[in-house]
Amino acid sequence: MDWGEKLATGVPELDDRHRELVERINTVLESIDQLRGQEAIGAALDEFGGCAIEYFREEEAFLRSGAYPDYCRHRDLHDGFVREFQEMRDRFDIEGPSLLVVSMVQHGLIKWLLDHIAETDKEWLTAVYQKDDMVPA
Ligand SMILES: [Fe+2]
Repeated sequence: MDWGEKLATGVPELDDRHRELVERINTVLESIDQLRGQEAIGAALDEFGGCAIEYFREEEAFLRSGAYPDYCRHRDLHDGFVREFQEMRDRFDIEGPSLLVVSMVQHGLIKWLLDHIAETDKEWLTAVYQKDDMVPA
Protein backbone atom coordinates (compact mmCIF):
# COMPACT_ATOMS: atom_id res chain seq x y z
CA MET A 1 0.00 0.00 0.00
CA ASP A 2 1.07 3.56 -0.56
CA TRP A 3 1.52 6.31 1.93
CA GLY A 4 -1.53 8.47 1.26
CA GLU A 5 -3.21 11.74 2.10
CA LYS A 6 -5.66 9.83 4.24
CA LEU A 7 -2.97 9.21 6.85
CA ALA A 8 -1.24 12.57 6.69
CA THR A 9 -1.54 14.68 9.83
CA GLY A 10 0.61 17.66 8.86
CA VAL A 11 2.82 17.00 11.91
CA PRO A 12 6.17 15.86 10.46
CA GLU A 13 7.19 13.70 13.46
CA LEU A 14 3.87 11.87 13.39
CA ASP A 15 3.88 11.44 9.64
CA ASP A 16 7.37 9.93 9.88
CA ARG A 17 6.16 7.46 12.49
CA HIS A 18 3.15 6.57 10.35
CA ARG A 19 5.36 6.01 7.30
CA GLU A 20 7.46 3.67 9.41
CA LEU A 21 4.34 1.71 10.38
CA VAL A 22 3.20 1.52 6.74
CA GLU A 23 6.64 0.15 5.78
CA ARG A 24 6.32 -2.56 8.44
CA ILE A 25 2.81 -3.35 7.19
CA ASN A 26 4.12 -3.68 3.63
CA THR A 27 6.84 -6.04 4.79
CA VAL A 28 4.24 -8.22 6.50
CA LEU A 29 2.02 -8.27 3.39
CA GLU A 30 4.96 -9.04 1.11
CA SER A 31 6.20 -11.83 3.33
CA ILE A 32 2.73 -13.41 3.24
CA ASP A 33 2.25 -12.90 -0.53
CA GLN A 34 5.65 -14.36 -1.29
CA LEU A 35 5.09 -17.32 1.04
CA ARG A 36 8.38 -16.58 2.74
CA GLY A 37 8.02 -19.22 5.42
CA GLN A 38 7.05 -19.18 9.06
CA GLU A 39 10.26 -17.72 10.44
CA ALA A 40 10.38 -14.75 8.05
CA ILE A 41 6.67 -14.00 8.37
CA GLY A 42 6.91 -14.28 12.16
CA ALA A 43 9.82 -11.82 12.18
CA ALA A 44 7.87 -9.37 10.00
CA LEU A 45 4.85 -9.67 12.29
CA ASP A 46 7.00 -9.03 15.37
CA GLU A 47 8.56 -5.95 13.75
CA PHE A 48 5.11 -4.64 12.89
CA GLY A 49 3.64 -5.35 16.34
CA GLY A 50 6.70 -3.96 18.14
CA CYS A 51 6.63 -0.78 16.06
CA ALA A 52 2.88 -0.26 16.64
CA ILE A 53 3.11 -0.87 20.39
CA GLU A 54 6.11 1.46 20.77
CA TYR A 55 4.20 4.11 18.86
CA PHE A 56 1.11 3.68 21.10
CA ARG A 57 3.20 4.02 24.27
CA GLU A 58 4.82 7.23 23.03
CA GLU A 59 1.45 8.64 22.04
CA GLU A 60 -0.02 7.71 25.45
CA ALA A 61 2.86 9.39 27.30
CA PHE A 62 2.29 12.50 25.24
CA LEU A 63 -1.49 12.51 25.82
CA ARG A 64 -0.97 11.94 29.58
CA SER A 65 1.47 14.83 29.78
CA GLY A 66 -1.10 17.11 28.19
CA ALA A 67 -3.96 15.79 30.33
CA TYR A 68 -6.00 14.83 27.26
CA PRO A 69 -9.54 14.36 28.67
CA ASP A 70 -10.29 11.24 26.64
CA TYR A 71 -6.96 9.63 27.48
CA CYS A 72 -8.32 6.49 29.20
CA ARG A 73 -10.68 5.62 26.37
CA HIS A 74 -7.92 6.15 23.83
CA ARG A 75 -5.46 3.98 25.79
CA ASP A 76 -8.10 1.24 26.03
CA LEU A 77 -8.40 1.26 22.24
CA HIS A 78 -4.63 0.77 21.93
CA ASP A 79 -4.77 -2.02 24.54
CA GLY A 80 -7.46 -3.76 22.48
CA PHE A 81 -5.08 -3.84 19.50
CA VAL A 82 -2.27 -5.21 21.67
CA ARG A 83 -4.51 -8.04 22.96
CA GLU A 84 -5.64 -8.90 19.44
CA PHE A 85 -2.08 -8.85 18.18
CA GLN A 86 -1.04 -11.26 20.95
CA GLU A 87 -3.96 -13.57 20.19
CA MET A 88 -3.01 -13.63 16.49
CA ARG A 89 0.69 -14.16 17.35
CA ASP A 90 -0.08 -17.11 19.64
CA ARG A 91 -2.23 -18.65 16.94
CA PHE A 92 0.49 -18.05 14.33
CA ASP A 93 2.93 -20.02 16.49
CA ILE A 94 0.60 -23.00 16.31
CA GLU A 95 -0.95 -22.68 12.83
CA GLY A 96 1.57 -20.63 10.86
CA PRO A 97 0.12 -18.34 8.19
CA SER A 98 -3.26 -20.11 8.09
CA LEU A 99 -6.24 -18.47 6.40
CA LEU A 100 -7.58 -17.38 9.78
CA VAL A 101 -4.27 -15.88 10.91
CA VAL A 102 -3.78 -14.05 7.61
CA SER A 103 -7.32 -12.72 7.86
CA MET A 104 -6.70 -11.58 11.46
CA VAL A 105 -3.62 -9.70 10.20
CA GLN A 106 -5.05 -8.18 7.03
CA HIS A 107 -8.69 -7.56 7.87
CA GLY A 108 -8.25 -7.15 11.62
CA LEU A 109 -5.00 -5.64 12.83
CA ILE A 110 -3.80 -3.75 9.75
CA LYS A 111 -7.23 -2.38 8.93
CA TRP A 112 -7.80 -1.37 12.55
CA LEU A 113 -4.46 0.42 12.76
CA LEU A 114 -4.92 2.34 9.51
CA ASP A 115 -8.47 3.37 10.49
CA HIS A 116 -7.20 4.37 13.94
CA ILE A 117 -4.52 6.64 12.46
CA ALA A 118 -6.81 8.05 9.78
CA GLU A 119 -9.78 8.70 12.06
CA THR A 120 -9.48 8.16 15.82
CA ASP A 121 -6.06 9.78 16.26
CA LYS A 122 -7.42 12.85 14.49
CA GLU A 123 -9.69 13.38 17.53
CA TRP A 124 -6.78 14.03 19.87
CA LEU A 125 -4.87 15.92 17.17
CA THR A 126 -7.76 18.33 16.89
CA ALA A 127 -7.84 18.72 20.68
CA VAL A 128 -4.07 19.28 20.73
CA TYR A 129 -4.25 21.98 18.09
CA GLN A 130 -6.90 23.77 20.12
CA LYS A 131 -4.57 24.02 23.12
CA ASP A 132 -1.53 26.22 22.63
CA ASP A 133 0.44 24.62 25.46
CA MET A 134 0.50 21.18 23.85
CA VAL A 135 3.00 20.61 21.09
CA PRO A 136 2.87 17.29 19.29
CA ALA A 137 5.84 15.07 20.24
FE1 LIG B 1 -3.91 6.38 19.02
